[in-house]
Amino acid sequence: MEKKAHFVKRDFPPREAPSLLLLLLVVAVLLLNALLYLYLGNLHGSSGRADAEPSLCPYGSFKLGPVKNCSPWLSCEAINREVRKLKCVGEGAVKKVFLSEWKENKVVISQLTKPELKEDFLHGLKMLKALQSKHVVRLLGYCEKQFTILTEYHPLGSLRGLNETLHIPKYKSMNTWHRRLMLAIDYVSIIHYLHSSPLGTLVMCDSNDLDKALSQYLLTSDFHILVNDLDALPLVNRSAGRLVKCGHRELWGEFVAPEQRWPYGEDVPFDDELMPPYDEKTDIWKIPDVSNFFLGHVEGSDIVRLHLFDIHAACKKKDPAERPSAQEVLDTYKKVLTLLIREAAMPSTREML
Ligand SMILES: Nc1ncnc2c1ncn2[C@@H]1O[C@H](COP(=O)(O)OP(=O)(O)OP(=O)(O)O)[C@@H](O)[C@H]1O
Ligand SMILES: [Mg+2]
Repeated sequence: MEKKAHFVKRDFPPREAPSLLLLLLVVAVLLLNALLYLYLGNLHGSSGRADAEPSLCPYGSFKLGPVKNCSPWLSCEAINREVRKLKCVGEGAVKKVFLSEWKENKVVISQLTKPELKEDFLHGLKMLKALQSKHVVRLLGYCEKQFTILTEYHPLGSLRGLNETLHIPKYKSMNTWHRRLMLAIDYVSIIHYLHSSPLGTLVMCDSNDLDKALSQYLLTSDFHILVNDLDALPLVNRSAGRLVKCGHRELWGEFVAPEQRWPYGEDVPFDDELMPPYDEKTDIWKIPDVSNFFLGHVEGSDIVRLHLFDIHAACKKKDPAERPSAQEVLDTYKKVLTLLIREAAMPSTREML
């Protein structure tokens, strides 16, 4: 007892204790801020690293898992010899998708469903080859003559199953506004990557309703998003006056952008020849609906929605030219994440002070 009193008296005179404590708290707050900046800097950096090859292998090769060396993309012969089909894990209009095995790795074989769609299939393969980056599913090989593509397997499947995945006990800790906003940031980063890709401005056309749009992206086991289906990615070249149309059929519904709908009323029958083309701003129109799906209904997601209200209102402008670019949406999302993380961190520091 006496010892304690002595210690306090000698080393920390009561007069100086509050100022020392304050100094410690200020240092703690500064440290917290520095950590926050480092964390967000990392996030910004990783989202902006649009052109980096995911496995850092030269073009035309890949590496899987802990393996050190890069292997060249598998050829027809290697696929036929070394890959074993296990079971069907997905099917779309263009491809049938099989979980398969290659040298003890789980991989995916995608095969053309019907010959009428081989143009789409080959376009998808061409895009997959040209756009390999951290945003795109990893290509492991292909066989054009057999209409086969080999890619990395992602057990969590497409984004359609996101809510179900987040209810599995193993992933429940991921079901937070923070993780969900990070997924929205991943998604907008991909749209930004496609709009400023090495090939030019590409439009994600295979997205005429929310379910369809979500089915084109995969959820990785570390909770990131990759674009997987690149079969319908037409090129816009505004300076050359080149615009696009997503298919040749009439589109309906609120999910597609207004300029994608038939503009001449019910009395005039739809005619693809008369249908005016449009640009990549159709993707921007769809962002609020996709992000709303990501944000879901968890504690804090409505606060995030409130902060995104203005940028989402801008995405929904009827005039495509008035909508923001994917870069502007991305910047706003990141600012909101920074702000909300700081706000979430502040109450405890305020209490400490
Ligand atoms: N690498 C993968 N890992 C896990 N699941 C996959 C993978 N690739 C595809 N799938 C599953 O298969 C589904 C269909 O794949 P994909 O979108 O490539 O087919 P598609 O025929 O081109 O589709 P669409 O009807 O949109 O044209 C995906 O939504 C996903 O559920
Ligand atoms: Mg698809």
